[in-house]
Amino acid sequence: MNLRLSVLTGLAAVSLLGAARAASPAVTIDPTPPLMLGSAWYPEQWPEEQWESDLSYMQQAGMNMVRIGEFAWSSLEPSEGNYSLDWMERAIEAAARHGMVVILGTPTDTPPAWLTTKYPEVLRVGEDGRQLQHGSRRHFSIGSEKYRELCAQIVTRMAERFGHNPHVIAWQIGNEYTEDSFDPESRARFHAWLEDKYGSVDALNKHWVTAYWSQTYDDFSQIPMTTGRANPGLSLDYKRFVTDTWRSFQRNQLDVLRAHVAPGQLITTNLGGLGWANRFNRQQIAADLDVISWDEYLGSGYDDVSKNGTGHLNPYRSGSTHDLVRGWRQQNFWVMEMAPGFVDWSPTASNSLDKGETRAMTWHAIAHGADCVAYWQWRSALNGQEQYHGSLVGPDGTPVPVFEEIAQAGAEFARMGDKLADTTPESDVALLHDYDSRWAIDFNRFSRRYDQMEVLQSYYQALRDQTQSVDIVVPLAPLNRYKLVVAPSLNVISADVAQHLIDYVKAGGHLVLGPRSGMKNGFNALNQERQPGPLVPTLGARVEQFYALLEPVPVAGEWGKGTIDIWAEIFDSLAPDTEVLMRYGAGNAWLEGKPAVVTRRVGAGRITYIGAVLDSSLMATTAARLVTDAGIEPVRLDVPAGVSVGRRVGADREVFVVINLADGPREFALPGAMADLLNGGQVERLELPRYGVAVVSRPKA
Ligand code: GLA
Repeated sequence: MNLRLSVLTGLAAVSLLGAARAASPAVTIDPTPPLMLGSAWYPEQWPEEQWESDLSYMQQAGMNMVRIGEFAWSSLEPSEGNYSLDWMERAIEAAARHGMVVILGTPTDTPPAWLTTKYPEVLRVGEDGRQLQHGSRRHFSIGSEKYRELCAQIVTRMAERFGHNPHVIAWQIGNEYTEDSFDPESRARFHAWLEDKYGSVDALNKHWVTAYWSQTYDDFSQIPMTTGRANPGLSLDYKRFVTDTWRSFQRNQLDVLRAHVAPGQLITTNLGGLGWANRFNRQQIAADLDVISWDEYLGSGYDDVSKNGTGHLNPYRSGSTHDLVRGWRQQNFWVMEMAPGFVDWSPTASNSLDKGETRAMTWHAIAHGADCVAYWQWRSALNGQEQYHGSLVGPDGTPVPVFEEIAQAGAEFARMGDKLADTTPESDVALLHDYDSRWAIDFNRFSRRYDQMEVLQSYYQALRDQTQSVDIVVPLAPLNRYKLVVAPSLNVISADVAQHLIDYVKAGGHLVLGPRSGMKNGFNALNQERQPGPLVPTLGARVEQFYALLEPVPVAGEWGKGTIDIWAEIFDSLAPDTEVLMRYGAGNAWLEGKPAVVTRRVGAGRITYIGAVLDSSLMATTAARLVTDAGIEPVRLDVPAGVSVGRRVGADREVFVVINLADGPREFALPGAMADLLNGGQVERLELPRYGVAVVSRPKA
């Protein structure tokens, strides 16, 4: 669903539910531009006479939005209860005079010195017991009631002042929710959370099987807070507690904003550059907002050169993260931060993107459903911890070389806005990404060769090559819109997830499970039915045994021949109508001749279980078969390798964003005449230089 329609629908629902935004004097909030390009700007760091030059250059770059405020608490409240908001109003008005709408950050990522001095109990405590001090950021405890009270106060003042400012189109709560805290108050909070969940310590002992190693607890207060190797039930519950704590931290400010700001002002937060980070369940954070944003940085997580990244845009890794973020709300999203050329914090990927690559990366985000790209940051503060970071102007306030290509994107966005308005990617295929399963496997990888993110990426890349569009959603998301749902490593399958998946299959869906599926229940305890747990009766088979491998093993069957490696599961107890699609070949006596892939028609649909990690060529073959067998006829452009295609669909049109990320120029035919939206006219062929971008459209069939 497109962002604006879904948000307005959501707002109508919210107001009908009585959680209506404050009755406010009639105010018309500036319309959110359908495509936004902008940057993070910190007016509080500069003499006010500098603002005009900055804003003029932003306007020259075609920017139509700016984000301010997320680190400005000491400038907004220089001493307790002494508020200074006029400068922010002048900055908002100045931005508006230069054609920009404003996203306002609540400043709760950086509490001022007076606050942490007077209320030291709000300071975060690391797992090592060290209390953080002033001088950086994120030094607060998300569990501190006092801190939440102080956050609500500053947000109330800001909302009262700017909640009806026509140029403020959205609020960003905090900045990149990151660390949890191990302070005494948070510890007590965790114990209360556990008691609320289990009711009694006996129930907890039962589900965690604490007779093991005499862990049995007599009281909730004995339970440790730890991210180290612990009882799997404790580890999983701790992650759920952190999620709930961030969620309530966010709700504290959401409630203030929703009570004070005009309906046209959207509320978001910007989840950090480690898009796949699993400090907490990001989908649950996103669910409470009007729109979700993320900060796209290469060199974050597995994009880092030290792991698998190249220091340059990888359309599969960046594309899958955009698709993950879009899937949290199943609607378009915003990229609230993107490096203008380079970052300064990645030990192996602070290299500069190539000339033209930042613009390509900007359009790549749009191709995957972003409606905003804002660069971090406009200008480096002259001092502070990020002096080397990429920016659009240098220390003298004049443009740096990357400014030119960003200005090109700005001009293009201005012309493409109405063409891309109310369009969003559409997919027949969904990958399931489940935080509980991520955590369960992370807690015990069993084999250091098993990298579940690489397993997911192998499915994503193969399926995207087939369909040029893949959604990524949580297991309990609505699935009936998809013909094919693939769960690469659904390790935790609880009864409700199982029922949801069974209903999907019986209604005609094709469900594919990958290795390690259904090993655990919702308490992270082993499913006694063996894998895939509560789906064993539906699959008509169970995993007889799993094996971590050190050498590849051949497999063969209906999907052809290939090899598997890293992980293998064998099946037994097959129902009469459960078919074996692939079997293991010689090489490992435990595996030889045993089923490696089984499938079964159930109701109007089908369930398939792939019990091994396939090599890339077999994965490609498998993806093609899965797509065909699910009756999917992909709407795709036939393009050369290295050319990335993103399709956004509106009520009456399809728009294709085509980006050449190959190592040189590429030329190819389109499947018919299309409107060339960037250059005008109709085209039947595209000739793109390296990092070249085309935006073409045709009426919806
Ligand atoms: C994060 C933060 C920003 C800035 C950038 C630097 O995304 O949100 O404040 O520190 O990283 O890349």
